[in-house]
Amino acid sequence: MRINQVISLSQFIADQQSKHPEATGDLSKIFRDIKFGAKIVNRDVRKAGLVDILGAHGTVNVQGEEVKKLDIIANEEFKSSLTLGGDCCAIISEEEEDIHHIETTLNQDSKYIIAMDPLDGSSNIDVNASIGTIFSVYQRISPVGGPVTMEDVLQKGSNQVAAGYIIYGSSTMIVFTTGQGVNAFTLDASIGDFLLSHPDIQIPKDGTIYSINDGNYDRFDQGVKNYLDYCRNSKIKKPYSARYIGSMVSDFHRNLLKGGIFMYPSTSDATEGKLRLMFESNPMAFVTEQAGGKATTGDGTRILDIEPTEIHQRNPVFMGSPDMVDKAESFIKVK
Ligand code: AHG
Ligand code: MN
Ligand code: MN
Repeated sequence: MRINQVISLSQFIADQQSKHPEATGDLSKIFRDIKFGAKIVNRDVRKAGLVDILGAHGTVNVQGEEVKKLDIIANEEFKSSLTLGGDCCAIISEEEEDIHHIETTLNQDSKYIIAMDPLDGSSNIDVNASIGTIFSVYQRISPVGGPVTMEDVLQKGSNQVAAGYIIYGSSTMIVFTTGQGVNAFTLDASIGDFLLSHPDIQIPKDGTIYSINDGNYDRFDQGVKNYLDYCRNSKIKKPYSARYIGSMVSDFHRNLLKGGIFMYPSTSDATEGKLRLMFESNPMAFVTEQAGGKATTGDGTRILDIEPTEIHQRNPVFMGSPDMVDKAESFIKVK
């Protein structure tokens, strides 16, 4: 019996699955593994403030052992959870150079591939600001049982079967889509489960928040500079609010709920920008679109339509409230 309509993440996935009798249930097992990984990483993130006692990440601790960076720890924890679960055949990760093949007997018949940024916004760990994990789920193209190929992992974002992020903020939350809207679940630490807190999230059509690293202004194209000048221009309208933590998950999450645009354009010294297509742009673009927003490279190209050629490729990002993305693009040369 459910109490006061409280819906847990597992219950929600099971309910969704029961509406699709053809579903095998494998995707819900992937979510079970992501959820488990999230709880473990959450535990370690919550200990990050104790680094002075336990040893700073990347240094040597009192026992003379090297303290692993939290990015690496999170990568290992998600890999372990997804391997033990048995429903994932390969992982690509911001922290791995190549495809991480999972070839245990348990996983040999699995069809899912996970792309992940195990810890996003890691420069914020030591200053107690919000960080996150970003994930995408794809189905392999080659037959189950054989080796996972580059073609399997380098799929367009529009092929994602699920995507989302976990935010380790003032609360810990998982926000995701399986292509049927966006829902968010908040971790109730007292019962150790994620509960539906934000059903069917819709991003406001327009907003007043713009999020960008303004320190790069001199290295942006003129069109981007013109848009930023427009955002600041009180002669045309009340100026927008600039909000930028430097942690994509947190900046994105705020704009998703409040309305806004998140941008990481190309610069004169980084012509494809900074953010990675497979680990950051595609999952966030899927969530954006499923919430009624827009996600492009700023020149009319939909992020989810980009054909990937490399695991770690980067692309410029403009995503958020659809009217704001349209406005930004009107200042930038559209193809
Ligand atoms: P990561 O910690 O996974 O390397 O990602 C950091 C990313 C992203 O979270 C953020 O939006 C962006 O880097 C910030 O970059 P700048 O410091 O250049 O603004
Ligand atoms: Mn990142
Ligand atoms: Mn990262």
